[in-house]
Amino acid sequence: MNDFEPTIVAFFCNWCTYTAADLAGTSRLSYPSNIKIVRVMCTGMVDPKYVIKSFLEGADGVLISGCNPGDCHYINGNFKARRRIKLLKEILAQFGFQPERLRLTWIGASDGIRFAEIMREMTAQIKSLGPNEGRLKMVI
Ligand code: FES
Repeated sequence: MNDFEPTIVAFFCNWCTYTAADLAGTSRLSYPSNIKIVRVMCTGMVDPKYVIKSFLEGADGVLISGCNPGDCHYINGNFKARRRIKLLKEILAQFGFQPERLRLTWIGASDGIRFAEIMREMTAQIKSLGPNEGRLKMVI
């Protein structure tokens, strides 16, 4: 299992985490290439269907990250995302799917260092869980 390289689909808010990713890049901070970034305007627009589809199509992990609480450019999109993801994790767990494969976090635009750290943490966590192996397909 040591050579397992997970695929992690990441939905990043344009205004904060995506900007932090840019900052990490321009600051030459290294982070794993396992993260496949999808830029969205706000975490509040990440429909739970996107998460489920990512898992069904082979993602080993899904990461959603946006503005810190109080900084959302659309007032409360990140709070809506937090409620939706909490519920989605509970539903996934009910079906025997490992909810640890899904993570929601906040990374501000100036947090390039934190961005790189979280990408390393998430990759290590998904590596420790092993491949997704289509478990979600089995329960749907
Ligand atoms: S604009 Fe960044 S989370 Fe809403």
